[in-house]
Amino acid sequence: MRRYAHIRGWGKYVPERVMTNDDLARIVDTNDEWIRSRTGIAERRIVGETDTTTSMAVKAAIEALSMADCDPSTVELIVVATMTPDRVMPATATAVQDVIGADRAAAFDLGAACSGFVYAYSVASQLVSSGAYKNALVIGAESMSHILDWNDRATCVLFGDGAGAFYLEANESPGGMLAFELGSDGSGGELLTGPTVGNSYKPLCGPDLKLQALEMNGRAVFRFATKIMGKAADAAIQEAGLTREDIDLFIPHQANIRIIESAARQLKLPMEKVYVNIHRYGNTSAASIPVAFVEAVEEGRLKRGDNVVVVGFGGGLTWGAAVVKWVAEPVPVESSGARVARNWFRYQRARIGSFQNRMGHVVDEWIETGARIVAKQKRRRE
Ligand code: ACO
Repeated sequence: MRRYAHIRGWGKYVPERVMTNDDLARIVDTNDEWIRSRTGIAERRIVGETDTTTSMAVKAAIEALSMADCDPSTVELIVVATMTPDRVMPATATAVQDVIGADRAAAFDLGAACSGFVYAYSVASQLVSSGAYKNALVIGAESMSHILDWNDRATCVLFGDGAGAFYLEANESPGGMLAFELGSDGSGGELLTGPTVGNSYKPLCGPDLKLQALEMNGRAVFRFATKIMGKAADAAIQEAGLTREDIDLFIPHQANIRIIESAARQLKLPMEKVYVNIHRYGNTSAASIPVAFVEAVEEGRLKRGDNVVVVGFGGGLTWGAAVVKWVAEPVPVESSGARVARNWFRYQRARIGSFQNRMGHVVDEWIETGARIVAKQKRRRE
């Protein structure tokens, strides 16, 4: 029996702090008119003191799991797409695993810049529909504001922070991801680069930690994006055995309204069939597609049986498109009292479990240190 990876839950989190174009005009030589007309962005969210990539990923994940009323201890796989992890190691996905108490889950991060979520969703979807895992949590989470050069008006006005998540579950009725198309062109790697811990780039933070801000050749990336979005979408649509006319909603990576409009023109899709929220959040990289998807559902833009195309592009260069058959019934976001109580219990249990596990590591350390001291004393006596 064929299995399908259905989207059973979805969630998003964006930081509370809003940064408008006027706010940016006080930092760099720019203005609201330029940013709106060249990019479509009016404002973006920026992480506050307490937000991290992990905390945003956790909030989006908990919302997705709550919607599906899923006990996190049953989650089998967690994939986080990010290029702004809190640390290079450990992976953000393992931190999420610990916080939510997903004791049985394999967890890893995936890096494909702004295409990361489509890559992560494709990988997780295949692992679930192949039968390797019964379910998976796929998250796109970014703190882009941490890697921006706030003196560079050509880049700092474009990006924002946030996270979005899908909870996927195996099901035998058709639905979920029908097809995907992923691609890369490393020859364009230098067109869009970010922080490094390696030797070959110029240091920004001194010799110990080599951190480089995001750098971009905007025009070249623009050219690449307008060429690839339509092509990738067409390839995925064809792979799914559909035509452009079958597409009910197009959810592109929210990088620039002009890129989105160009892709819509190539695909001959009217803008009514295109979901846009770039004015609210700017480019949130790997979080942009899941946040847009969640908002499209919340706004009632999807109905059962709709075919949705998501397309991302970004650093690498990378790109990814997927066709999704939407079969989930949009459910009210409000939680029932019982669900709230169940969730409270689940995440308290996760907290206690995490504490016990941490104590376990400490006790193991004590036991091993004690054993070493005893062995050393024994050797001395002999
Ligand atoms: N405010 C005011 N003026 C500005 C600003 C700004 N924030 N930024 C640049 N300018 C100026 C430039 O200096 C230039 O001035 P000049 O003509 O005197 O030299 C002028 O505006 C035009 O600059 P362009 O770079 O030609 O502007 P363009 O219309 O190409 O828009 C932009 C720039 C918005 C960056 C566009 O090229 C773009 O969106 N590129 C794609 C970027 C993208 O999608 N990146 C994300 C990839 S996803 C990932 O993996 C992270």
